[in-house]
Amino acid sequence: MANHKIAILRGDGIGPEITNAAIGVLDAVASRFDHTFEYSFPLIGGEAIDREGAPLPQSTIDECLKSDAVLLGAVGGPKWDNLAGHLRPEKGLLGIRSAMGLYANVRPAVLYDELKGASPLKNDILKNGVDITVVRELTGGIYFGERGYKDGPLGRVAYDTEAYSIKEVERVAHIAFQIAQGRKKKVTSVDKANVLESSRLWRAAVERVAKDYKDVELVNMYVDNCAMQLVKNPAQFDVILTSNMFGDILSDEAAMLTGSIGLLPSSSLGDGKRGLYEPIHGSAPDIAGTDTANPIATILAAAMMLSTSFGLYDETACIENAVRKVLAKGLRTPDIAGFGGRKVGCEKMGEEIAHAVLNLK
Ligand code: IPM
Ligand code: MG
Repeated sequence: MANHKIAILRGDGIGPEITNAAIGVLDAVASRFDHTFEYSFPLIGGEAIDREGAPLPQSTIDECLKSDAVLLGAVGGPKWDNLAGHLRPEKGLLGIRSAMGLYANVRPAVLYDELKGASPLKNDILKNGVDITVVRELTGGIYFGERGYKDGPLGRVAYDTEAYSIKEVERVAHIAFQIAQGRKKKVTSVDKANVLESSRLWRAAVERVAKDYKDVELVNMYVDNCAMQLVKNPAQFDVILTSNMFGDILSDEAAMLTGSIGLLPSSSLGDGKRGLYEPIHGSAPDIAGTDTANPIATILAAAMMLSTSFGLYDETACIENAVRKVLAKGLRTPDIAGFGGRKVGCEKMGEEIAHAVLNLK
């Protein structure tokens, strides 16, 4: 019997609906396996701006640091799009990643057989499957580099800078190689070393880390080529290791290959066991409050949390099996309903998965 404190950052748009569904599933796990999960609900993003005047109140950081793990819905929406950069909801997410020291963002992109029809790729490109884990550096690079405004010969200039230290690259590289050891033992490190100085440092640091993992193959690839290879031959990839900016872009591309962005979870990790777990998709303000969002990515993020942060492996497997069972039964939220099955809403999907958690043999 375990007892864990979980901070739930509901956020904006569909955030509250999808995190509610995940809580229902966590409660089912708690009851089946005799655990206690204690939830708190700190504010982040647009909701925090509206109620406290800032996207990441100090009380939210404190609460997250006191918790054993954090589950996040999503942040952002058109209502806050015209605010200054440091006041936008997205700044809340970047701030909590940084405050918690979560430098490695792990984003698996897996093609589910039942949903092959949802992939935009042709069948013959998919014949060897898609099973890629993107490991994205999360607290450095151009997202956190020096930025500002200055005057230039052509007038006002805005700038953002990409900077990486050897240490920042090495620590995220270790995580990528360790994940690869548990998979197909291949790391593709993606950079732009033909142009960027920061990428040349990146490549050299990754090559040094690779020497500690003799059983893992390292391939270096330029980011433009990687964008192309992902749609040409996705089966060549196992773990993709890359910078914050390139990882933001490539992880969306990899997720889309599976056609099921509503199904993919991600985790953000640092040195300890405390992580932040969230769906890969965003806050979908256009469908917020309509009970049509797909809660599966958030439910699978909660599943990832149980094994990665709490060491509860059977419980993770139980949620994953429950999701598979409900999909196999043909239940579909609207985003994946085009491919057969019975249409259900967000709440019903969550309830069905919770029910399966309680009743799986
Ligand atoms: C992501 C998102 C965020 C990012 C935004 C919302 C700040 O796109 O998690 O990929 O760029 O990291
Ligand atoms: Mg993104």
